Amino acid sequence: MDQIDKRADLFWSVKRVSFTLVSILTVSLAGAGLWHYRSVLKLNRHLATALAEVQHQRMMIEQTSAQRQWYEDELRTSAQQLQALSRRLLEAHERERRAIARELHDEIGQVLTGLKLTLSTAAVDAPEPLATSLNEAHAAMSELLARVRALTLDLRPALLDDLGLLPALGWFLDRYVPRTGIKVDLRHSGIERRFPSELETTAYRTIQEALTNVARHAGVDQAKVRIFASAEQLVVQVSDDGIGFASTTLANTATSGGLSGMRERIQLIGGTLSIEAQPGEGTEITAELPLPTFM
Ligand SMILES: Nc1ncnc2c1ncn2[C@@H]1O[C@H](COP(=O)(O)OP(=O)(O)OP(=O)(O)O)[C@@H](O)[C@H]1O
Ligand SMILES: [Mg+2]
Repeated sequence: MDQIDKRADLFWSVKRVSFTLVSILTVSLAGAGLWHYRSVLKLNRHLATALAEVQHQRMMIEQTSAQRQWYEDELRTSAQQLQALSRRLLEAHERERRAIARELHDEIGQVLTGLKLTLSTAAVDAPEPLATSLNEAHAAMSELLARVRALTLDLRPALLDDLGLLPALGWFLDRYVPRTGIKVDLRHSGIERRFPSELETTAYRTIQEALTNVARHAGVDQAKVRIFASAEQLVVQVSDDGIGFASTTLANTATSGGLSGMRERIQLIGGTLSIEAQPGEGTEITAELPLPTFM
């Protein structure tokens, strides 16, 4: 073989090797590209799944918060309905008491007064021992009449409806003081006028219950009552320096006692009640009752 042929052989050998190398490289690159493409596809699929999951979660959260909003609205409506119902119940209760008090006073009281008169007239001309019996019946009738009057006023003092808070309170204290032996220091300002009936009733019943509690539980012979009205509110405070009580007492009587009834009444007209009591350090009850803005 001459020199030229050798060179041609070498040339072709180099070209074949180059071609083979280029082919291997191309195939490798194509394989790598394909692998890369597959990875990207796989990643895309993962991303799409994750995105769908996030969207699903977001929908669930939106749904849950919409549901929670719905429940909150329902709860608020129920609470409002319950409050309106309690208010109507209390009004009905007071109306009923007023009606029974009027019935007792106007009907039964009149009949008893008539009977009492008849007995005293009959006793004048009656022979003994009938006269003595008639006189005894007359005394019993007087007693009965006094009890009916007291019951009438306990149920609902007509003064409260006719003349307002201060006269009704004066009448209550006139009976409370001798009955219990507790002296009451009453101070007030700005209440010589009329307030809405609901407000007068709430203030009156608050003082009535608080003073009854003083007589029943405090172990004192004096109490203070403070009432004052500003343009915005009527404030009622009853306090004593008696035995007081622990806050646990309140928790135990929270649902049925006089104090919880008092709180309910006050809250129903938008007011607040605060009770300050410590064992051995007396009790102070303050009710703040908002006045209607037009007053
Ligand atoms: N002024 C007070 N001094 C001492 N303890 C008091 C006073 N007022 C209330 N308490 C305590 O608080 C408790 C709850 O009072 P609340 O008026 O609710 O019920 P009650 O007076 O026992 O019964 P009722 O339901 O007939 O009013 C009382 O039992 C008493 O222990
Ligand atoms: Mg009580």
